[in-house]
Amino acid sequence: MVTGGAGFIGAALIRQLIAETDAPVVNVDKLTYAANLDALAEVAQDPRYELEQIDIADEPALRDVFRRHRPSGVVHLAAESHVDRSIDGPAPFIRTNIHGTYTLLETALAYWRELDDAAQSAFRFHHISTDEVYGSAEDGRLFDEHSAHHPNSPYAASKASADHLVRAWSATYGLPVVVTNCSNNYGPFQFPEKLIPLMIVKGCLGEPMPIYGDGGNVRDWLHVDDHAAALRLVYRQGRIGETYVIGGRSELSNLQVVDRICQVLDELAPDGPGAPHGRLKSFVPDRPGHDRRYAIDCSKIEAELGWRPGHSFDSGLRATVAWYLAHRDWWQPILDRRYAGERLGLDRAATPGAE
Ligand code: NAD
Ligand code: TYD
Repeated sequence: MVTGGAGFIGAALIRQLIAETDAPVVNVDKLTYAANLDALAEVAQDPRYELEQIDIADEPALRDVFRRHRPSGVVHLAAESHVDRSIDGPAPFIRTNIHGTYTLLETALAYWRELDDAAQSAFRFHHISTDEVYGSAEDGRLFDEHSAHHPNSPYAASKASADHLVRAWSATYGLPVVVTNCSNNYGPFQFPEKLIPLMIVKGCLGEPMPIYGDGGNVRDWLHVDDHAAALRLVYRQGRIGETYVIGGRSELSNLQVVDRICQVLDELAPDGPGAPHGRLKSFVPDRPGHDRRYAIDCSKIEAELGWRPGHSFDSGLRATVAWYLAHRDWWQPILDRRYAGERLGLDRAATPGAE
């Protein structure tokens, strides 16, 4: 069972599972604004794939899905995932990320307790989380599995809460869990509210590219297919009760990322309305509570499980820009109907730009 399988990362994972394994996959997804069934078009007709459109906070519906599909494990990605939306309206983040995770844990636990010994010991509850739970990393410091949770945004706080619930259901009730905390992902089919797809789309349209604050905030970037491969490895081989942090060893400031996007757009779309694209860079008021830096030491997953990312940031970014240029038929309807690219995350802020 994959929850949130119609999202950006969940869909990448399901595409890999159907293409590269024999596993049947049930995708439990509410299909919110962020869901994207086009990303699953290549697996939609596969007899091993099935979609159940339900809310993970709906316990009776969830129990029914467990009863009918009898999953051998759960990979939990369903979440509200955008920091700026969590600033404007935290309620769905609390409901899905905390209460939804609690409901899923309770339902999975009741199901797991009824399994025979072999199925019980093979079962995994894999919780997918973010490096944002650790807060901002001081210069020179890296997050690892021992870093303390110190969340600053409503999104990060809701994911940190979910991490704690998952840990408690393992320690208290014996549910066999693994947890991964990953850095920022990018790649095809990412909803154009996140930095990289938003900047590419703005560049294609010749519209200003909004850089928060001074553009010096640093993120560690990982291609979504490399994250999906890491998730498969941890699900199969990770040690029960353990956390694995995942990152791309690609720390870049937002300004560096936007400059690279502009370079690739200049190369691939030299006659586009935005060219030369560097002139579109526009500094706008900062996100409130904006973490300055995220950085990951992923030695544990490398040493224990032999994981390595396949994409360098340059090769992955180039392929991603090329993908968005070739798939305007995917993102233009999203801009027309679901999100037009307007600024999010300032509405409720008392002191915009304050740390
Ligand atoms: P996304 O926003 O693209 O997709 C989330 C999916 O969850 C959507 O398909 C949505 O319909 C579904 N969903 C939301 N609420 C639901 C509910 N109540 N019940 C059932 N389904 C629901 O998110 P993403 O970027 O693919 O992230 C997936 C997971 O990975 C999240 O848990 C996120 O916290 C985590 N994560 C994301 C990143 C990143 O860079 N995107 C990095 C690290 C970790
Ligand atoms: P985002 O993609 O929202 O991911 P996260 O907040 O989860 O790291 O933002 C990545 C970085 O880019 C973050 O430092 C905020 C910044 N940013 C901008 O400068 N402009 C934008 O329009 C967006 C969406 C983000």
